[in-house]
Amino acid sequence: MNSAAPSASPAAVELSAAPDRAAAAERAAQLFEESFGYQPDGVWSAPGRVNIIGEHVDYQDGLCLPMAISHRCFAAAARTPTNRLRLRSVQDETVLDIDARTLSPETVTGWPAYVAGVLWALGSRISGASTRGMDILIDGQVPLGAGLSSSAALECSAAEAIEDLLSLGTEPLDRVRAAITAETDFAGASTGGLDQSASVLSREGHALFLDCRDFSTRPVPWDLASQGLALLITDTRAEHSHVDGEYTARRADSEQAARELGVDTLRDVEATDPAALETLLATIQDEVVRRRAHHVITEIQRVREFGALLAAGTVRENVTELGALLNASHDSLREDYEVTVAQLDVAVDAARAAGAHGARMTGGGFGGSTIALVEAEQAEQVAAAIAAAFTEQGFEAPVFFLALPSEGAGQDR
Ligand code: GLA
Repeated sequence: MNSAAPSASPAAVELSAAPDRAAAAERAAQLFEESFGYQPDGVWSAPGRVNIIGEHVDYQDGLCLPMAISHRCFAAAARTPTNRLRLRSVQDETVLDIDARTLSPETVTGWPAYVAGVLWALGSRISGASTRGMDILIDGQVPLGAGLSSSAALECSAAEAIEDLLSLGTEPLDRVRAAITAETDFAGASTGGLDQSASVLSREGHALFLDCRDFSTRPVPWDLASQGLALLITDTRAEHSHVDGEYTARRADSEQAARELGVDTLRDVEATDPAALETLLATIQDEVVRRRAHHVITEIQRVREFGALLAAGTVRENVTELGALLNASHDSLREDYEVTVAQLDVAVDAARAAGAHGARMTGGGFGGSTIALVEAEQAEQVAAAIAAAFTEQGFEAPVFFLALPSEGAGQDR
């Protein structure tokens, strides 16, 4: 056979290599010195995340199962004997130089708001006599706009740096809450707390079972590599934004559903008996609100089932059932919650057709990324099938990498 004969299988694609954390921290320290003219006191970092399952439920007190990825945001920082907060970024020209005592929600815009907001949110912990001055250089390596929580990584790396520079004595959960407050009350972006919890509290080699009722967490072993499995991330490159009305509209729909059902949040609704659930949901007047509630309630139940399967055995032993839950989650987000876009659906459909055990969008939706649970040896093949489907649809080429369960926020050097 002629070696130039056309092949039926799609062209090979490359999975991006996992970033080297130590090298990236070193680079951030060097860039700080180039930028500010002296060496930083330290470098801190926080990871982006994927959510394995439990989507659009955090703001209804739901259950989620995120994990930190190996892409991180680095904050090289030093305390100064002043009250000036000076911020610079490797990725963005916008800088900030402000009296830290004057911070209030309207005073800062753009990316610096996510850092200044954390200092503002931690303000009550800073002793009155203490100066608040610091220089921070941000090197954000979580892909932007990919639905992988680059803003949570930014906030949480800043929270670690500020905690250590000012010796505030906060607990990790205090920093989670400060990052949430920074995003919602200072930067003015809606968030339910999933992203910040994952970025601060994740453990290497584990996923994080997160109960958004009280933000309590439990690390769950999630070592796919040793079981010959992998979680493939596809950054679809579809423009992603939920600061606009859609995210807020979904929250409002769920709140309305909870009011009509007479519960504080949809977490309070039982979902084990599908027929009883249908009867209950039929009492919701608006058909769209009814579907929104159906998603949230059944998604929380899927997380329970996912968690029970992980407690009962390894991912390998339960891979078919776990994959089916991932698929059901995506289908519910597509049909009932309507937060997918064509690129997300095409990536998920192509992954399933190419042999993934399960695939779904991850994060807020309206663009962003998908995940697929695959045999490790088939990861590149599945990626190639997704890439081919994107070419066929005329979409921009996606970017692929593996979700390697990484350590939450902390100090690097
Ligand atoms: C975004 C928000 C999170 C969560 C997800 C959907 O990532 O920031 O709080 O609501 O969407 O699960």
